[in-house]
Amino acid sequence: EKQGYKHFMLKEIHEQPERITDTLRGRVSVDRGDVDFGPMEGIEDGWLDTLERIVFVACGTSYYAAQIAKYIIEDFSRVPVDVELASEFRYRNPIINERTLCVPMSQSGETADTLAAMRLAMELGAKTIAVCNVVESTMTREADGVIYTHAGPEIGVASTKAFSTQLVVGLMLGVWLGRRRGVLDEEGGREILEALRDVPQTMSKMLHEKAIYKHIAYNFSDVNSFLYLGRGNLYPIAAEGALKLKEISYIHAEGYAAGEMKHGPIALIDESLPVVVLIPKNRVYEKVFSNLEEVKARQGRLIVVATEGDDDVREFADVVLEIPDVPEYIQPLLTVVVMQLLAYHIADFKGTDVDQPRNLAKSVTVE
Ligand code: M6R
Repeated sequence: EKQGYKHFMLKEIHEQPERITDTLRGRVSVDRGDVDFGPMEGIEDGWLDTLERIVFVACGTSYYAAQIAKYIIEDFSRVPVDVELASEFRYRNPIINERTLCVPMSQSGETADTLAAMRLAMELGAKTIAVCNVVESTMTREADGVIYTHAGPEIGVASTKAFSTQLVVGLMLGVWLGRRRGVLDEEGGREILEALRDVPQTMSKMLHEKAIYKHIAYNFSDVNSFLYLGRGNLYPIAAEGALKLKEISYIHAEGYAAGEMKHGPIALIDESLPVVVLIPKNRVYEKVFSNLEEVKARQGRLIVVATEGDDDVREFADVVLEIPDVPEYIQPLLTVVVMQLLAYHIADFKGTDVDQPRNLAKSVTVE
């Protein structure tokens, strides 16, 4: 069952490398630099040539995974992508037509709002590919095509391995479309898929660290609120980190785009506010670095997630959590593990019911 882990959530965090391998298996050909999802009804190469736009619909953690998929798919395939909260999408008058691909992203495949949003898109003529974890769930039965995230059963209410495998599917979708649309060549696809293939091993190494999280839990579990900052494809990870923390530890937390800090949240910063800053080496590193300076100047407490060996951030940080040096498009996959462990250890220290947090259901099948 829990296989010696104290909670399902911790077991599921540790399972991620294996589940990512499962999600890649049989779909990725590194040699050919390509991805094959198998046949999907009505979604042939000819139709993909006419594709104008992709719309993801999702809720909660799955919504954040979809936001990261947007960065990847637009970058690798140049197809415009919108990401919508299913509960918003279904109550307006969305612009959808026969050249739209709608992608409902959902662990359970049963979330009421996501299902309704998908049905609405289909009515308006869109084709659909459901990205789901639960086999034979309602969404998978109704969609034109299905891509399973092979995360295995997820018991913890707080989603972990479903999210990371959704990110993997996002990367695979990006390569798949990029190749079909002629934006990525074989070499380009190969480079991305090689980096993806290395993720399970890299992630496994990160999962050995424990002491530092216990140290943070000890020092930070009595605060009232956390601010999480990220930029680019790590902005959704900041939001996901904040969601994980509030769900299981009941500490208020807000995820913000780092560039927006000076437009409001900076007013919150004083010596009582821990700020988690995601700043691995990437194209916005220098920009996010200025956030470190601004928080420090106001005596905020900094928990910094940075690339291994980055000594420059140490001058500002109360704690540094390291991730290995990987390409930018892989960084969300590794930083989210840090977010999960941080939330888990704080909640565990507080003694909350980690796997069954109050007021929450695993699958939200009502509006
Ligand atoms: O099954 P789904 O992925 O459609 O569920 C969506 C959300 O309800 C879910 O991600 C929720 O936010 C989780 N409790 C997050 O940990």
